[in-house]
Amino acid sequence: MILSELKLVNFRNYSKISISLHSKLNIFVGKNAAGKTNVLESIEILGLTKSHRVGNESNLIKIGEKKTRIIGIVRDGNIRKDLEVDITEGSKKVKKNNREIAKIADYISNLNVIVFTPDDIEIIKGSPSIRRNFLNLEISQLSKEYLNIYNEYNKILKTRNEYLKIMITNALADKHYLDIITDKLIEKAVIIYQYRRKYIDNVNKNIRKIFFDISHSDGLYILYEPNINFENYESSFITQRLKDVYKKNYQKELNYGMTLYGPHRDDFSFYLEDNNLKLIGSQGQQKLAVICYKLSEIPIFQDACGTSPLLLLDDIFSELDSQKRNKLLNYLNNDVQSVLTTTDLRNIKRKNIEDSYIFTVKDGNIERR
Ligand SMILES: Nc1ncnc2c1ncn2[C@@H]1O[C@H](COP(=O)(O)OP(=O)(O)OP(=O)(O)O)[C@@H](O)[C@H]1O
Ligand SMILES: [Mg+2]
Repeated sequence: MILSELKLVNFRNYSKISISLHSKLNIFVGKNAAGKTNVLESIEILGLTKSHRVGNESNLIKIGEKKTRIIGIVRDGNIRKDLEVDITEGSKKVKKNNREIAKIADYISNLNVIVFTPDDIEIIKGSPSIRRNFLNLEISQLSKEYLNIYNEYNKILKTRNEYLKIMITNALADKHYLDIITDKLIEKAVIIYQYRRKYIDNVNKNIRKIFFDISHSDGLYILYEPNINFENYESSFITQRLKDVYKKNYQKELNYGMTLYGPHRDDFSFYLEDNNLKLIGSQGQQKLAVICYKLSEIPIFQDACGTSPLLLLDDIFSELDSQKRNKLLNYLNNDVQSVLTTTDLRNIKRKNIEDSYIFTVKDGNIERR
């Protein structure tokens, strides 16, 4: 799918702008605080109805105004979709072809986006919970079933933790009831493990080659690290292993008053051959690994959604040397629409940006060069 037009009204530092986008490469160039990330953020919201950096949504409304609108025209083959997200203080409406859609979940698949922001380096450097959140966000975009099961798992987990705490103090508490909750938890856990395993396997099908093409370093992969060792991911096998683990650790979990095993304790790491990038990767290497991770999601989205996602890459060139900048651009010159921001186009080869739109962002304005 292609986002062909974008209009913003009172969005962050923009009063009113309207731009046409290239079906392949779009580059927004401007100084710090010019409003480059704001443009990407608006597209992210048009796709997902929210953005990674928003705490309070009223911050999206231009200071002094009461309402913001993000409007986009998406083309997918012969189909044209007019999308709109309207945000006022305390309320948000989404529209498709001028008709309001009541449920956000029914809106979201209209514009699939893959977003890279410099903060995403935390996927490597940050805590396991950051990585789990990330995994959940990505897989939820690919599968509604996953999102539902994950929410159900969390509810059961909460109940189980509460009951374990009750069992510590209440001698009359029923172990049989805990077993029932545990079986329910296992049922959901199995599916979550399988989704995550499959997703990471799919990322690994692509990431090594992409990283090699751009950096000439070979051997990048993601290692899935659940806190239980599974030799295989057959339902019956995972189920049995989980039953054994909970049985064996019954006393331990009781002592802690919480569930110590399960997908809520999952983690994953980036490895370059035998080396964990969290420990040995340079800043640039880590950044490129995360960018390649995002690029490796393109075919996964294409398979799951039947159409190409839109790539949003914020502050893409900083920390990358000129060779990698150009290799990366080369890589983007394929059939996926991408929108990048950068403070400058230094060391970029002209031929790599010949077939693209370059926008200058300045003082709340956007002009095509
Ligand atoms: N609600 C708002 N109303 C008005 N201005 C806003 C609002 N929210 C953010 N801004 C302004 O937008 C600007 C930041 O824009 P943005 O983050 O897009 O910059 P940038 O071009 O990405 O900069 P950098 O290169 O530093 O990343 C700041 O000047 C900020 O004050
Ligand atoms: Mg920025």
